[in-house]
Amino acid sequence: MTATILRGAPVAEALLASLKSEIGKLNPKLVIVQVGDDPASQSYVRQKLKSCEAVGMRTEHRNFKAEVTLPVLMKTIEELNGDADVTGFIVQLPLPAHLQPHVPDIIKAIDPKKDVDGFCAYNIGKMFLSIDFEHLPPATPAGIIEMMKFYKISVDGKHAVIVGRSNTVGKPLAVMLLNRGATVTICHSRTKDLKLMTKQADILVAAVGRAGMITKDMVKPGAVVIDVGVSRTKDGLKGDVDFESVKDSVSAITPVPGGVGPMTVASLIRNCVTAKKRQMRD
Ligand code: GUN
Repeated sequence: MTATILRGAPVAEALLASLKSEIGKLNPKLVIVQVGDDPASQSYVRQKLKSCEAVGMRTEHRNFKAEVTLPVLMKTIEELNGDADVTGFIVQLPLPAHLQPHVPDIIKAIDPKKDVDGFCAYNIGKMFLSIDFEHLPPATPAGIIEMMKFYKISVDGKHAVIVGRSNTVGKPLAVMLLNRGATVTICHSRTKDLKLMTKQADILVAAVGRAGMITKDMVKPGAVVIDVGVSRTKDGLKGDVDFESVKDSVSAITPVPGGVGPMTVASLIRNCVTAKKRQMRD
């Protein structure tokens, strides 16, 4: 079987092109709060700033030293919440070890109207109501949904198996797929027989961050495989899926890099436009 390679770039380009005129009219502004210099975060933040610039969206990058204290970070969030010129802001994760336990409090402090990551309880909770309330969905799951739409991969009635239960990908993606008629199984590090589960997937999503953990014997022939994992290895960036062995037996598969990655940034930009429109309406 020759698999369709699900590249993110054409999907992201189409989405960004559709947003460009609205960005010109609405003039939204995104602020990225970064703490420390984690190499992966540096690269993600660079990509976000570059894509915003390409579509003419205003940005500000606030990069704090790794030692910044929680009160200083919280004060910044308060200030951004109150700044009418700021449409939305994100706190790039992960944070340094001393702040990481406070991530729930940090996210809770963000005004839901400006939560363009879609991480806060209000925005996550609304997604549970129905597809019509997915106003600010988390960027990576929203990007995956957009990608499946672009490549005409139907979700309704399919069995989607997600490996990974993070608040940023696994859990919200499960809700979004459920909203679109999928039967959803979420697997994680405590799952007893992972292969038994993944073998049943019509749509298999791997979002763990362990290079090559999904091998050919774990995948049903003809399945659609979405690889969200990105690991830095001595051979470069690798996904959770052993791409070379899996690609010959599936109907479609995302590469790493070049698959889901570009979609995350495009979805974040879409959320900034949505946030601005909803703020003007309120
Ligand atoms: N770290 C990895 N992905 C993300 C994301 O989508 N948002 C934030 N804030 N941090 C991340």
